[in-house]
Amino acid sequence: MKKEKVAKIEEKIRSVFDQQYQIIKMLGNGGMGCVFHVQSNGVETADFALKVLDKEAYNDNKLDFMREADVMKGLDYPGIPKIIAVTEDEDYVYMVQEYIRGEPLSLVIRKCGKIREEYLRIWMESMAATLDYLHKQGLIHRDVKPDNMMLTHDCEIKIIDFGLARKKEQVDQADKKVFGTLSFTAPERFTKKVGTAQTDIYGFGATMYYVATGKKPENMKTTPLESFATMEKKLSETVPEEITQVLTKAIAVKPHQRYSNFDEILWDLSHENQLKDAELAVRQDQFIKVFLILTTLFLVGLISVY
Ligand SMILES: Nc1ncnc2c1ncn2[C@@H]1O[C@H](COP(=O)(O)OP(=O)(O)O)[C@@H](O)[C@H]1O
Ligand SMILES: [Mg+2]
Repeated sequence: MKKEKVAKIEEKIRSVFDQQYQIIKMLGNGGMGCVFHVQSNGVETADFALKVLDKEAYNDNKLDFMREADVMKGLDYPGIPKIIAVTEDEDYVYMVQEYIRGEPLSLVIRKCGKIREEYLRIWMESMAATLDYLHKQGLIHRDVKPDNMMLTHDCEIKIIDFGLARKKEQVDQADKKVFGTLSFTAPERFTKKVGTAQTDIYGFGATMYYVATGKKPENMKTTPLESFATMEKKLSETVPEEITQVLTKAIAVKPHQRYSNFDEILWDLSHENQLKDAELAVRQDQFIKVFLILTTLFLVGLISVY
């Protein structure tokens, strides 16, 4: 969004919310609106994220500007920011949301590169659990990518930006047009197939591929099978076999080859953790046995010497 447009929005915020909020800084600036960190003006200050949507830009793209607010109002989950208030005027929709202290995952990876396995596992579980909740509400996000995942200061992942979310059975302009970053777009979207739960599962796999390897996923537009093979190889060189298995199944080229739902992903992740714990317990057990045998031998030796 151009500078003049942003300046106009800031002016608008001051006139609409002057008594209520003060702008701290701009957090994001997309094609159809921008997001600000604002603070309440009362005795006790509190932080919020104020997302302002430009109705004209939504109409130009044949998208519903009230969709995001309507979707968010119905959600109540720790991995999703709460919506506090929604107002609108002739030109804009103003959404006041819970402020997430943290940074988008895209920025974290750009700064740090690939992430340690223990964090990768925690984030995979937390992101899958939130998307599982969303799907169980009958919704799909349709824009799952590192820009729309926030890593909080408590090391949790929260999902933002429900601008393209819709009910599973609805189909709209965003299903006919590819919006957003190519790297995280599922292959079927390039052949104009309607997004499904599997499209979000691809977004999950591609996002976690980026976290695991520090490399952007290969473009799935022209030679998806080759891209998939390159990613599978990269994963197997970087992360343990079990994680490679989960992620390659999530980013399979054909939607029906992917997981059916996030429950299955969560099951595989927890099962894998259980296996790891069991393996660890066996190793501890073996270590204790060897230790006891060696101690006994040492004592027997000591006794026989005296
Ligand atoms: N609830 C929030 N708390 C903190 N920061 C947020 C919040 N929502 C959005 N942001 C910031 O604003 C940026 C853009 O938000 P997003 O909803 O993704 O808008 P867009 O539709 O322009 O992509 C995010 O990358 C993030 O930095
Ligand atoms: Mg976004």
